Amino acid sequence: MVKFAGTRDVIELVNRIGMAKMFEELVAEAEADFARWPQFEKVARVASHSRDGVIELMPTSDGETYGLKFVNGHPKNTRDGLRTVTAFGLLADVATGYPTFISEMTITTALRTAATSALAAKHLARKDAKVMALIGLGAQSEFQALAFKAILGIKSLRVFDVDPAATRKFARNMADSGIAITYLPTAEEAVTGADIITTVTADKRNATILSDNMVGAGVHLNGVGGDCPGKTELHRDILLRSKIFTEFTPQTRIEGEIQQLDADHPVTELWEVISGAKPGRDSDRDITLFDSVGFAIEDFSTLRVIRRLVEQHGLGREIDLLPEEGDPKDLYGLIRAGAPNETKLSA
Ligand SMILES: NC(=O)c1ccc[n+]([C@@H]2O[C@H](COP(=O)([O-])OP(=O)(O)OC[C@H]3O[C@@H](n4cnc5c(N)ncnc54)[C@H](O)[C@@H]3O)[C@@H](O)[C@H]2O)c1
Repeated sequence: MVKFAGTRDVIELVNRIGMAKMFEELVAEAEADFARWPQFEKVARVASHSRDGVIELMPTSDGETYGLKFVNGHPKNTRDGLRTVTAFGLLADVATGYPTFISEMTITTALRTAATSALAAKHLARKDAKVMALIGLGAQSEFQALAFKAILGIKSLRVFDVDPAATRKFARNMADSGIAITYLPTAEEAVTGADIITTVTADKRNATILSDNMVGAGVHLNGVGGDCPGKTELHRDILLRSKIFTEFTPQTRIEGEIQQLDADHPVTELWEVISGAKPGRDSDRDITLFDSVGFAIEDFSTLRVIRRLVEQHGLGREIDLLPEEGDPKDLYGLIRAGAPNETKLSA
């Protein structure tokens, strides 16, 4: 039997422990895994691009546990009442190759993306950062806001979305969040005075959510929505003024904001900062950019947290994904044993 956690389990779990505790758990696990980054097998995700979106497989292993996520990204989906991003994932035992845990990862991807953003900002933003601008108020947005509140103590947000319905939804969801939210009519006004700017929009093109004049000294940029070839959010000139941090650089060169730069443009991987091998920002005047595209190790960490918490809270259920144990060489015997009679089976 394999443990399965569905969306209802994850919803129940988060409601029991609260978003702040959830983000603390996720950030602690991810921070520990980023610190042991060289132990992981790393490969750029396998992406199947189509006109309207992408389907991706994201595998990794630490030698003991293997993790894999299936995830899509289809910005046009919301026009038809479908989600931009859906996902599920699994953990497996490297020694036997047996899958041990399967989970929904649509909600969980939003949790892990926000946790990774907050982890990066914890290491890269100015220590006195107080105000965050949030551009894009879709599915990921509340998670981003709440992760930054839980991990960095951000209690003041300046927000903007081109879609009034998304803005109303955000306002409804965040009414009791304890965050002071200012709604602005343009991205330019939203970023004014912000110490951290999170862009989390969805458009399958090279968009310019932020232009160069909108980003001043000392700001930390958390670029989440630019995560596919031909899908970016920041003007190239901003990148040229920023100290850039990546997850797994070979993947980010293809998918991140830095696809706009030369292939040898210098970047630092976030794990190098977290492990203490390299510095983060050099001064309070640096512009730091976390060029987030999402990497398999973050899903691995998150799946392990979800599995542990689901177990602790008695959630999830066993599914018969694998055949019952028995003579390992007699697989066909299982079919014979389940058949009403032998004659019918071989006919
Ligand atoms: N980096 C990662 O790890 C990671 C993980 C998950 C999702 N993503 C990406 O994050 C983005 C957001 O995902 P989502 O699930 O919230 O999508 P979504 O479609 O639910 O929301 C996106 C929002 O952006 C708004 N928007 C689009 N263009 C805009 C503009 N010019 N200015 C302001 N707002 C604008 C839309 O109106 C919408 O409300 C997607 O591009 C997705 O691919 C990245």
